[in-house]
Amino acid sequence: MKAYLDKKVLFFGGKGGVGKTTSASSFAVGAAKRGKKTLLVSTDPAHNTGDIFDRPIGGKETPIAENLWAIEIDPHVESHRYINQVKDNIRQVVSSRMLEEINRQIDVASVSPGAEEAALFDRLVDLILEGQDAYDLIVFDTAPTGHTIRLLSLPELMGVWVDGMLSRRQKTNEMNAWLNDGEEPPDDPIYEVLQRRKNKFARAREILLDPSRTSFIFVMIPEKLPMVETKKAIAMLQKHGIPTETIIVNRVLPDDVVDPFFQKRKEQEKRYLEQMKEMFAEQRLHYIPMMEHDIYGMDALLKIAGHLL
Ligand SMILES: Nc1ncnc2c1ncn2[C@@H]1O[C@H](COP(=O)(O)OP(=O)(O)OP(=O)(O)O)[C@@H](O)[C@H]1O
Ligand SMILES: [Mg+2]
Repeated sequence: MKAYLDKKVLFFGGKGGVGKTTSASSFAVGAAKRGKKTLLVSTDPAHNTGDIFDRPIGGKETPIAENLWAIEIDPHVESHRYINQVKDNIRQVVSSRMLEEINRQIDVASVSPGAEEAALFDRLVDLILEGQDAYDLIVFDTAPTGHTIRLLSLPELMGVWVDGMLSRRQKTNEMNAWLNDGEEPPDDPIYEVLQRRKNKFARAREILLDPSRTSFIFVMIPEKLPMVETKKAIAMLQKHGIPTETIIVNRVLPDDVVDPFFQKRKEQEKRYLEQMKEMFAEQRLHYIPMMEHDIYGMDALLKIAGHLL
């Protein structure tokens, strides 16, 4: 997977518990070791990066090792921050009489489904844009599959949403100008805020949809359900115009198991390993063996990085 060292943004996705955090962290550690200034970002609300590096990591970029920083984005915190930011923006442009009612409406919107995701996405976009200069590589450890894919369709949805608001805003401004005897519409701060957001999403989209800069790597294990789920997820990404070139096949049993129980599992595994070659003929498969121990700490991560790089 050495080619991925030259990317700017990597997403590690896959079904629950298959080894996304392990793979993303290992890759980040390996990249940093090879001199790439790397930021590891966890977007899974049930953060594990702190556990894997055995130190607290929060919502701020935290130094982990030479060339390596990590951050855990908490959707709940982000959503609060986001809402406060929106309120701040609005406070500057509406009368205090309306402010109370508007704030009430914002509070209602802030607990609606999708609000945390939108806020999380906003932060993700900022990290990607600001990180372009600050880092060589940004590695995302994501939450289980569905979540990631929804996240990726958000720029489209939010683009449409912002477009709708922009055109409504423009009509209102034109209408006001008309009512004021055809004067030039005044500068509209809300219109400008929306336009800035639109430009920001457009820039992030450009990076996310550029295969020379961004890649999506799926992690799965040689079992039926993770394979089926990965297949679906790849098709879904394809629909958004995002190709998947590489799959990490994690927890492959050693060949020389002797215990009857493990021999049986190994037989089953062999069938799946064969099957996946056909099922994922378009992708390159990378294998990580099942280790004797669970994986945390620098030494263990470097060992896995050795398998990936
Ligand atoms: N190759 C391996 N050999 C042994 N243990 C492994 C291997 N890969 C992962 N593990 C262990 O499996 C567990 C799950 O891995 P990990 O946390 O990376 O999965 P995940 O996909 O991030 O899970 P979640 O969906 O909950 O975020 C961890 O305890 C990890 O140490
Ligand atoms: Mg994880």
